[in-house]
Amino acid sequence: MSDIAATKDKYAAQIAGAEDLRVLDDIRVAALGKKGEVSKMMQGLGKMSIDEKKVMGPALNGLKNDIAALIEAKKTELEDAALDAALASETMDMTLPVGSPSGTLHPVQQVMEEMAVIFSDMGFSVAEGPDIEDDFHNFTALNFPPGHPARDMHDTFFMTSQEGEEPKVLRTHTSPVQIRTMINQKPPIRIIAPGRTYRCDSDQTHTPMFHQVEGLVIDKGIHMGHLKGVLMDFVSAFFETDVDVQFRPHHFPFTEPSAEMDVRYERDGAAIKIGQGESWMEILGCGMVHPNVLRACGLDPEEYQGFAFGMGVDRLAMLKYGMPDLRDMFAADTRWLAHYGFDPLLQANLASGLS
Ligand code: DAH
Repeated sequence: MSDIAATKDKYAAQIAGAEDLRVLDDIRVAALGKKGEVSKMMQGLGKMSIDEKKVMGPALNGLKNDIAALIEAKKTELEDAALDAALASETMDMTLPVGSPSGTLHPVQQVMEEMAVIFSDMGFSVAEGPDIEDDFHNFTALNFPPGHPARDMHDTFFMTSQEGEEPKVLRTHTSPVQIRTMINQKPPIRIIAPGRTYRCDSDQTHTPMFHQVEGLVIDKGIHMGHLKGVLMDFVSAFFETDVDVQFRPHHFPFTEPSAEMDVRYERDGAAIKIGQGESWMEILGCGMVHPNVLRACGLDPEEYQGFAFGMGVDRLAMLKYGMPDLRDMFAADTRWLAHYGFDPLLQANLASGLS
């Protein structure tokens, strides 16, 4: 028994004196490791009489637990101290002047700013909504009835819900911002909603997180001609050249009629030139806001009409600036950012050119 007390004291002293996590782990191995001192003492139990075992068994277990608890407590203490030291030494003075900045604006940020410039010139303002949405805003109010197959097409990330709470999703598109805006604002409404969106999908042209810009116009007497005019002006301004477009009928639950807009393009070697050419490429979805969506937001479809559109920002950035793989955009590779990034001090504007 005195052995046990002495062993405990020995390790307690060593643990108290351990100056870092590596030393502490060496002590743990020496005491409790497979070939450690305490483990060896426990192996000795096999040779003891039953009466001895009754006493020594619990005593050795107690020794093992005591040492393990001391190590655990010391570990927490050392980790806290390491964190405090890191927090104290790794400081950054945010008030220092930038000098010549070496960072660049990410192409997605650049393209979102270009879009905001173009649409604000047409009288749109920027609206935002949360990345974590509820089913009502992401689906139901957008005229996706419960159980509707279109919900599956979105490869939704569902979140585990708290007791008694409505299930939440990572928004699969920026369209829920339409709903929030119509519920909170009186028409006339003219907004774009840029932001992050999420779908469970990953390959050369899909990433689980991507970016969209949603557009919404609500007023009296709005028709398809307004939609076409706005979007045609937008693409020519965005690609900074005349762009020929076509509208193809399509289906979205939240618009009726719905369309996809294609732009003319041609291949020039590996590069894609948008504007003219023999081929068509789809770049956005759009349509007249469905009466059910207006009603879900408390608007009377007899009084108000509107149009909406939605497009993928990352893909437009790839097309405009010639980046081949979507996944590179989010790999945080500084060489890629230095090559494709934009000067943060040159803000996009219509007067001197967007980029
Ligand atoms: N929410 C659609 C999507 O993620 C994009 C879209 C299509 C938005 C048509 C619209 C629209 O507002 O009218 O695929």
